[in-house]
Amino acid sequence: MSENQFLSGNFAPVTDELTSFDLDVTGEIPKQLEGRFLRIGPNPIAPNPQSHHWFLGNGMVHGLRLRDGKALWYRNRYVVDDQIVEAKGLPPVESPDRDDLMGGGMANTNVIQHAGKTLAIVEAGNLPVELSYELETIRRTDFDGTLPAGLSAHPHLDPDSGELHAAVYSPMWQAIQYVVVGKDGRVRKTVDVPVPGSPMVHDCMITKNYFILLDLPVILDPEVIEAGFSFPYKWHPDYGARVGLLPREGAAEDVTWHEVEPCYVFHPMNGFEDSDGRVVLDVVRHSQMFASDMRGPSDGTSTLDRWLIDPKGGPVKESRLDDMSQEFPRLDERLTGKPYRFGYTTGLGEDVSLGGLKKHDLQNGTASLHSEGDHRVFFEPVFVAESVDAGEDEGWVMAYVYDKRTDKSDVVILHAQDFSAQPLATIHLPQRVPFGFHGNWAPDEG
Ligand SMILES: [Fe+2]
Repeated sequence: MSENQFLSGNFAPVTDELTSFDLDVTGEIPKQLEGRFLRIGPNPIAPNPQSHHWFLGNGMVHGLRLRDGKALWYRNRYVVDDQIVEAKGLPPVESPDRDDLMGGGMANTNVIQHAGKTLAIVEAGNLPVELSYELETIRRTDFDGTLPAGLSAHPHLDPDSGELHAAVYSPMWQAIQYVVVGKDGRVRKTVDVPVPGSPMVHDCMITKNYFILLDLPVILDPEVIEAGFSFPYKWHPDYGARVGLLPREGAAEDVTWHEVEPCYVFHPMNGFEDSDGRVVLDVVRHSQMFASDMRGPSDGTSTLDRWLIDPKGGPVKESRLDDMSQEFPRLDERLTGKPYRFGYTTGLGEDVSLGGLKKHDLQNGTASLHSEGDHRVFFEPVFVAESVDAGEDEGWVMAYVYDKRTDKSDVVILHAQDFSAQPLATIHLPQRVPFGFHGNWAPDEG
């Protein structure tokens, strides 16, 4: 069998858990940035190259602490799961006493700050893992017993209510569970929505009136496991593809379903309702997913598309906003669920290596690029507003970058309104950060 590309190059795991202080900076870090720039990804401690799937590596979180124009520290730590406990001889991780949990405490897909806690999160059955400010694993949490199953890697914060909205799924269910987590960090509401199979539901959207469900044809297929692979989801376009609109305070029977062409969406950019009450959904649309490569996402195209849905019915109007291959869409999250103008994505190369960043002006249909050469490979762009009342692109775009020449990583801070220019600051990290998934700016809470 061929080499597993998801274990080579900058997909390869790092072994050291480092702590570095007072990092070298080129340029100037904006003094308003006080907090941590967190990111997480898989960092498998003992992978089998034959069966290893990129999505299933043990989590490792990386963090950069900024304050007063200085890069005070960088740390990287495993998110301690049962396999890490065994490999490193650590004490077991404190966990709720439940017998319905899956995956041995692995959390590798996103890292957020909510209700004063730093949480490493993942989908498909594992609980969130609470981390300390310095990124040490504290405990697994089910939010004081209020979380019925696992969470999702992509809860979305409603900027008006401060609540998190998430689509939870499990390989054991033929349902998608809508979960709302309150500002207090406890689950306020759940709705179980039946679906015909067991789809992989990576993300969701909210609009003013709806929670948006994605029931797409990457579904549980036990034959993949029987064939010796570790990740049980596969492309089955005959399943169909549809978008569900669940009224945010409604019940499962209130969902209206709207068919789209078969595709897969890991990540929406945003959704909102237009002045005619139609639902507008901007998504990175993969033409297929896990059709041929059972070890990671490497097949098909990934374009930025817009779906226009009339809640009263009729065909979904699908259009293409940008046919460049791209992923990791983000926006100014003060506008989550609302009409917006600017979004940010990462360019994808031919071999799933990442490229430069792109800023989309969806109002004017234009875009600007930030590239620092083919050897500088950008991860997910994260927008941080300059102040609470700043305009939509008045702020910074931050990203981790891998430099192929030095085999190390940096964090780059761009001014969002001068996107193609040299970075305001480049912070030099002591080691490379492997390609992974998601991150967020976690401001210090005073
Ligand atoms: Fe994701």
